[in-house]
Amino acid sequence: MDALSMNAVHLTINNRKILSNLSMNVPQGDAVTIMGPNGAGKTTLLKVALGLVKPTSGELYFFGKKGLSKESQKLLGYIPQNLGLVNELSVYSNVMMGALRRMPRWRSITGMYPKDLVDDTYSLMYDLKISHLKDIKIKKLSGGEKQRVAIARTLIQKPLIILADEMTASLDFKAAVTVMEIFSEIKKKMKITLLMTHHNPDIARLYSDNVLIMMNGRIEKNIPANEITADTIGGLYEP
Ligand SMILES: Nc1ncnc2c1ncn2[C@@H]1O[C@H](COP(=O)(O)OP(=O)(O)OP(=O)(O)O)[C@@H](O)[C@H]1O
Ligand SMILES: [Mg+2]
Repeated sequence: MDALSMNAVHLTINNRKILSNLSMNVPQGDAVTIMGPNGAGKTTLLKVALGLVKPTSGELYFFGKKGLSKESQKLLGYIPQNLGLVNELSVYSNVMMGALRRMPRWRSITGMYPKDLVDDTYSLMYDLKISHLKDIKIKKLSGGEKQRVAIARTLIQKPLIILADEMTASLDFKAAVTVMEIFSEIKKKMKITLLMTHHNPDIARLYSDNVLIMMNGRIEKNIPANEITADTIGGLYEP
């Protein structure tokens, strides 16, 4: 079964075709990477899946059900390119904040969080190897540490599908591998489906099942990740 699929999606903004007859699918439990030149429409595709951008036409399916209902929206976790963490707050508070939609407002105002949420926060900080950073403010962290906080903040929502935009873009290869190793382990444990965009062929080969090549607003190719090298990708980016 596909966790997510799109069929013949079009998006036109100001007479410009941003997405054009786009079809794609992400099998449940898989990790799929979208690669493609700047401006191809990768971020827009994620935003359509999240319901942040409404396509001009076409269909979306989540676990075989048509359309983006309130229920299916709850299954989705988003890690935006800029992460959206609060710099002045601690790692603990940032992870906890991911669960704001899981609780009434008075709890966040009074800081009286339910025990299961506190337990989840500690357990995720442990899994993502950021427990030792619990009280440190985000602004003091390295790029790789921030990524792990952003992942924890998304996981606390218990999503079934995570959409991650340029997850490793700001990291050097070693830091990217560290983040992806930890994330892949948790992904398997929590049976999460992952759709991510980035520009690194090595990360794509190591940490995804398939790579979708996106150009000019549509998916041009679907390649098994083990066939991805810098050369195959380089060729595809040529004009
Ligand atoms: N709200 C919008 N209004 C007008 N044009 C938009 C809007 N959002 C995106 N676009 C255009 O759609 C195209 C695709 O943008 P998008 O951000 O999806 O590309 P991308 O593949 O994520 O690129 P990058 O690799 O640089 O992140 C771009 O030409 C962009 O200018
Ligand atoms: Mg983008």
